[in-house]
Amino acid sequence: MKRDQKFFDMYTLVIGLLAIFAVGILVFAMNVASLTQGEYTTQTDEYRAEVEERLRPFGKVYLPGEELTADGPQVPPIEAAEPVAASLSGPQVYNEGCNICHGAGIADAPMLSDAAAWEDRLSQGVDVLKDHAVNGFTGAVGYMPPKGGNASLTDAEVESAVDFIVEELRK
Ligand code: HEC
Repeated sequence: MKRDQKFFDMYTLVIGLLAIFAVGILVFAMNVASLTQGEYTTQTDEYRAEVEERLRPFGKVYLPGEELTADGPQVPPIEAAEPVAASLSGPQVYNEGCNICHGAGIADAPMLSDAAAWEDRLSQGVDVLKDHAVNGFTGAVGYMPPKGGNASLTDAEVESAVDFIVEELRK
């Protein structure tokens, strides 16, 4: 029984000290908090401005028609570059605008694979062929529309397609 009493006293003492220690920490923490964690709304304007500055979003999206309010780097619009019209190569033009007739003989067009149909045409000279391809041509077998009907092609592009045709025929 005596031993139990001794243990009980010791136990009470330790628990008591821990409780005092805990209350001490609580009081200390509340003190510190009252110095640093005051209500935001009761802080000085200066303090609030600093906080607002730190929390400010990095960027802002302006919708069309909205006035710019925040001052930030104003980027002057650069002049839009002129679109560069890359001209198509002969084979590209041929595949896009000529093959539909000259590949399959549509509208009685002389087929690229039919060398005999081109013999007399080639003898006119490449310049005449180019002229006929660019400006259109109505011959004995049918109607060759100017630029094959594709007005967006440049003269040079159509001419390079004729060069391609001539090259293919001479192979
Ligand atoms: C709508 C069909 C059609 C398309 C597309 C077409 N051609 Fe033709 N082409 C013809 C026909 C039909 C002839 C034959 C006309 C004739 O001799 O009566 C012809 C003839 C030609 C000739 C021979 C002209 C001559 O003096 O004998 C050349 C060169 C030619 N085409 C080039 C082209 C090129 C290059 C393209 C593509 C840019 C093209 N063609 C697209 C139908 C077409």
